[in-house]
Amino acid sequence: MKVAVIGGGTMGGALVKSILRARLAAKGDIIVSDVSRERRELARKKYGVAVGDDNAAAVKGVDAVILAIKPQEMDGVMEQISAHLKSQLVISIAAGVSLETICRRLKYGAVVRAMPNTPAQVGRGMTVWTSSKELSAEKYDTARLILSSMGEELHFADERYLDMATAISGSGPAYVFLFIEALIDAGVHIGLPRDTAQKLVIETVAGSAEAMKKMSKHPAELRNMVTSPGGTTSEALLRLESGGLRSLVVNAVTAAYEKAKSIGAKQQG
Ligand SMILES: NC(=O)c1ccc[n+]([C@@H]2O[C@H](COP(=O)([O-])OP(=O)(O)OC[C@H]3O[C@@H](n4cnc5c(N)ncnc54)[C@H](OP(=O)(O)O)[C@@H]3O)[C@@H](O)[C@H]2O)c1
Repeated sequence: MKVAVIGGGTMGGALVKSILRARLAAKGDIIVSDVSRERRELARKKYGVAVGDDNAAAVKGVDAVILAIKPQEMDGVMEQISAHLKSQLVISIAAGVSLETICRRLKYGAVVRAMPNTPAQVGRGMTVWTSSKELSAEKYDTARLILSSMGEELHFADERYLDMATAISGSGPAYVFLFIEALIDAGVHIGLPRDTAQKLVIETVAGSAEAMKKMSKHPAELRNMVTSPGGTTSEALLRLESGGLRSLVVNAVTAAYEKAKSIGAKQQG
């Protein structure tokens, strides 16, 4: 398969790496088009793919076009490539830019809108996606193959869930990293060497997620298993709950969701 990735930044790079790792395309069949010379050089050196700065030329004759640019750059890029879309699958990962907007600006129907997350860089991404009604079964399968190369994927028939997923899995790694950072700092505060605290925290977070996945239990049940009567965990949980952790998380995610919708609203019309 021939693939053009427009925008070779964090997510564009993760996509190239994943596509190569899954052997969906050979190095010579991938072109990264980016305005930044530095990013082009990085993509060429790191992945051995073709690079360029002419978006229109890059999309000609490929099977799939991936738009991995910022939402505010979408308009200009869509104008450049619109006339050159004949039978390509187009996948946009731009936050907030709706399928309807993309199809209208591209004057083209075979479009997928996806929201990956940064653990895709190590093949552990969670990508949610939706597709236009005009997408053929064959292109749907190609999209699923490409997106699953980054990790897990989940298709939504209802596009509204994408903005919600943006606030959970899209932004989620940042919330988890903040919690990890706080837990490491807490370890240091009570006297652990920083590298020891870091190892303990990473393994605890990764192990807890893995346990929940494998044991298929409600988180409260798993939490109760750690919380002995009158014990240390109970002391800490009381502080977290009285500090409003739960409502703080709900408020933060709601704000991210509102922001995702407002970015989308700005891109309409
Ligand atoms: N990072 C995330 O966690 C995440 C998760 C899900 C989805 N997304 C979405 O993924 C998209 C890309 O995000 P990112 O974090 O990968 O951004 P990024 O690192 O800034 O990468 C975007 C790249 O596109 C280049 N570019 C800008 N204008 C261009 C143009 N007209 N033609 C070709 N290349 C152009 C940029 O160059 P310059 O730097 O010189 O401008 C940059 O190298 C965004 O729409 C974002 O909403 C991001």
